[in-house]
Amino acid sequence: MQTSQPPMPRYLKEDELSQECTTLLSTLPAERGWVCSAFYNYQGFWHNARQLQGVLSCQKHFQAQDTDILLVTTPKSGTTWLKAILFTLVNRIRFPPTQDDHPLLSNNPHMLVPFLELKLYVEDESPDLSSFVSPRLFSTHLPYVSLPKSVHDSQCKLVYLCRNPKDTFISLWAFTNKLRLQEMGTNSLEQVFDKFCKGVSLYGPFWDHMLGYWQESLKNPEKIYFLTYEEMKEQPSLHLRKLADFLGCPFSSKEEEENVVESILKICSFDNLSNLKVNKEGKLPSGENNSAFFRKGEVGDWKNYLTTEMVERLEKICEEKLHGLGLKF
Ligand code: A3P
Repeated sequence: MQTSQPPMPRYLKEDELSQECTTLLSTLPAERGWVCSAFYNYQGFWHNARQLQGVLSCQKHFQAQDTDILLVTTPKSGTTWLKAILFTLVNRIRFPPTQDDHPLLSNNPHMLVPFLELKLYVEDESPDLSSFVSPRLFSTHLPYVSLPKSVHDSQCKLVYLCRNPKDTFISLWAFTNKLRLQEMGTNSLEQVFDKFCKGVSLYGPFWDHMLGYWQESLKNPEKIYFLTYEEMKEQPSLHLRKLADFLGCPFSSKEEEENVVESILKICSFDNLSNLKVNKEGKLPSGENNSAFFRKGEVGDWKNYLTTEMVERLEKICEEKLHGLGLKF
C-alpha cells in the first residue's frame, strides 16, 4: 500500500535556480547526493543545489545585529532540541516556560527559530526580517568559513552544537531516507556510510565543520559557545545555566528558587516535545512531517546499526582529524 508522502522541501529542489547559482554550480566539484541527484562542493563543504542558492543569498544579504543569537549546528546533532531550549531561554519573561499556552506547545521549534539558508534565504533572496523581535534568534548549518561577513563584524553570539559522528550518521541516514521520494527507494547504510566517511554528506566533511568552530571558540569564547549533544544530555542544567550566562541572561536567584531551569528543560524534553499533537501530526510549511525530527533522542543508538569495521573506520577518522586538536567524543 502506498502511503502519502510529503513533497520535497524547497531546499532540496534542483530546478528554479538563479542564473548566478546555475553558473556557479557548473564550476564546482560534484558528487552524487543522498537525496538530491548531486552535492556541490562550495568553500570546502557539500551542498544541494537549491540550498546553495540559499547560502549565496544569505552570504550576500544577511545583516547580523549585535544582539542576534545564531544557533549553528551540524545536521542531526540535536538542532530541534537546542532551538527549543534557546527560544524558551531567551523568551522566558515574555513566555514563562510553565505557561499553558507557551508557543512551544503549539509550534514546532523550527517554526520558532528559522534556518537562514535553508528557509528564510531559500524562499526569498532578501527576506524581510523586520518582524523579528530582539534578540533575534536564527539557526544555520553554515560552516565557519561560509558565515556571512556581518556575523564576524557584529557582536552577535554563536551557539555551536555538534554530536558524536556515529550517532549523527545514523540519525542522518534515517532522516534522509524519510526525505527520499518513494520511487527513489532508500539508501543502504553501507552506501551512505562510505560517503559520510569521505566527507560527502550535507555540510560535510563533518570534521572540518566541527574544527572550524572548535578552533574559533578557543580563540574567542565570548563569541562562540561550543557544545555537544552528549554534554547537553549528560549535564543539561549545567549547560543551560552556562548558555544563559554566555547569552547575557543569567538566571536570577528568584528564578533559581522557582526552578525555572528545570521548567525549561522539562518543556524542551524529548518526551514532552515528541508527544505534542503539533509534533506528532503537524507538518512544516516546506512539507516535512514534524515527527521526522523526533526519532529516539538517545546517545549510543549507533550500537544497534554499525558493524565493528564501521566503528573502527569512523573512530580512526575522529582520531586523525579531531583528537589531536583536543576534540573528543
Ligand atoms: P535521533 O535520530 O538519534 O533520535 P536535528 O534536530 O539536528 O535534526 O537532530 C535530530 C536528532 O535530535 C534526532 O536524533 C532526534 O531524535 C533528536 N532530538 C529531537 N528533539 C530532541 C530533544 N528534545 N531532546 C533530545 N534529542 C532530541
